[in-house]
Amino acid sequence: MSKENQKVALVTGGIGGIGTEICKALIDQGRRVYAAHLLSEMEKAQDWKKEMAQSGYQVSTVPVDVASFDSCAEMVKKIEAEAGPVAILVNCAGITRDTTLRKMDLEFWRSVIDVNLNSVYNVTRQVINGMLEAGFGRIVNISSVNGQKGQFGQTNYSASKAGIHGFTMALAQETAKKGITVNSVSPGYIETSMTAAVPEDVRNAIVAGIPAGRMGKPEEIAHTVAFLAADDTTYITGANIPVNGGLYMSY
Ligand code: CAA
Repeated sequence: MSKENQKVALVTGGIGGIGTEICKALIDQGRRVYAAHLLSEMEKAQDWKKEMAQSGYQVSTVPVDVASFDSCAEMVKKIEAEAGPVAILVNCAGITRDTTLRKMDLEFWRSVIDVNLNSVYNVTRQVINGMLEAGFGRIVNISSVNGQKGQFGQTNYSASKAGIHGFTMALAQETAKKGITVNSVSPGYIETSMTAAVPEDVRNAIVAGIPAGRMGKPEEIAHTVAFLAADDTTYITGANIPVNGGLYMSY
């Protein structure tokens, strides 16, 4: 597909474990992909981009602080100037600062809410009017099983991820008549550096409770994101798709 006809996709947290696979899946879908990464990871992002190219994936990178509205505005301006309006947005940037509430300081609370939840406003606000004008948009917010069920040691993270889904349902209602779908995907425990940081004994106990008997793979999340981002996935909006090996079931 020529570059002019490609729809532009932006993936925040794009060079992380899940983000990388989402970028690949969207490129396979024919999108022109921008992976947004931390300002402090310029060098890592350049190496990542080279590795992606070596595997046959041409991807652009763009630095951002998703916790800053102004930084997000600048990022989207840059992408639009280079490639045109963002048609597909995957809000995937996220962090953990796990500790029980009795020990949690304000910085642990605020940083998780800023990076995981406020970021969704900060980035989506920059692209929503362009999508409305185009009459097309796909927004996929990466939430978490722990936003659905809560998790010991994650009052900050669980609150941020539950908040994402409230945002998803509200924005889905505002845009459903305009060719835009807004959905969340709630991963369970996926093989990434984020879950690797969970103490081994705690992690083993969690995995023992997963009906599938194993952690998930980043590709399994990416597959679901690409499905929701597809041009012909037109009637699913305001939904949350759990991808968790059966760890938490609801209807
Ligand atoms: N349920 C009930 N009690 C628990 C418990 C649990 N799940 N886990 C620990 N406890 C108990 C301990 O047995 C201990 O009890 P006693 O005081 O009676 O001995 C007490 O709670 C320990 O409490 P502390 O406040 O001292 O906690 P800690 O400092 O030892 O560590 C923790 C707590 C850092 C939260 C640690 O348990 C931990 O890392 N848990 C994993 C959290 C987790 O799953 N994070 C997910 C990260 S990956 C991710 O987030 C991706 C995604 O979307 C899924």
